[in-house]
Amino acid sequence: MIIGFIGFGKVSQNLISLIKSDDITFMTSVEGRSQRTIEKIKDYEIGVADTFKEVAIESDILISANSPKSAIEVAEKYGKYAKGIYLDLNNISPDTTFEISKFTPNLVDGAIIGKIDSAHPILYVSGELSDKLMFLGKFIDIRKISDNVGDVAILKLLRSSYTKTLSALLIESSELAKQHNLENEFFDILSLTEGDEFREKSLSRINNTLSSSKRKSEELEEIIDYFEGSDLTMVRAALKKLSR
Ligand SMILES: NC(=O)c1ccc[n+]([C@@H]2O[C@H](COP(=O)([O-])OP(=O)(O)OC[C@H]3O[C@@H](n4cnc5c(N)ncnc54)[C@H](OP(=O)(O)O)[C@@H]3O)[C@@H](O)[C@H]2O)c1
Repeated sequence: MIIGFIGFGKVSQNLISLIKSDDITFMTSVEGRSQRTIEKIKDYEIGVADTFKEVAIESDILISANSPKSAIEVAEKYGKYAKGIYLDLNNISPDTTFEISKFTPNLVDGAIIGKIDSAHPILYVSGELSDKLMFLGKFIDIRKISDNVGDVAILKLLRSSYTKTLSALLIESSELAKQHNLENEFFDILSLTEGDEFREKSLSRINNTLSSSKRKSEELEEIIDYFEGSDLTMVRAALKKLSR
């Protein structure tokens, strides 16, 4: 079996290091790629085709892991050649996923939850063809959500609406605690019900949110756009808070 990659960044490299089987070979192309990516590809013993079209034709599983901005263009160019499975792992919205499905009859909608280089990344998939990917469970924790392409993308937005809104609330509450000189006690008392790792996880969440508040705000705007018409009181409040 051949697994082909369009995009050879952290996601593709980590998948290669996780999927170790004599029955599976990997391929990609250097067509139009940066020197950095070309050098990275040389570090791996994988097939290198002249064009991505060739990669798409040859692969049993074609993985698109490039960037949210390139995802549609890549699908439009190469989706039609993927006769096996087209697995999109880009961090994209449900609308983008539906757009991509127009060009890729064999689409499986995928998401890596958490960082790909974490100890145990989990791969969520949806779409009728997901069943054909479950053998990857020998190498990576893979979970099928449903037969509907787009469910994984919606789930990603739901997760994001929860974590980002919670982060905004954490920023506010911990700031109040600080003003009253009770920051340590605030985390201690919450750890009693929220678990021992609450302080560590909260501080990491707060720092992460503050250091990329522009991107987080954009992601909240995306959530509001997608779920327009639903009750989004808390998400809107979080956006207001992060936009300050
Ligand atoms: N890293 C994570 O933990 C993680 C987790 C979940 C989802 N994702 C998503 O997975 C995707 C890939 O992430 P990553 O971390 O692997 O990215 P990355 O390390 O930044 O690498 C991106 C790779 O895609 C290539 N690329 C960009 N546009 C391309 C195009 N039009 N055609 C072919 N190759 C193209 C880049 O090549 P050049 O160097 O030539 O530009 C580079 O090799 C993103 O959509 C990201 O949002 C990442």
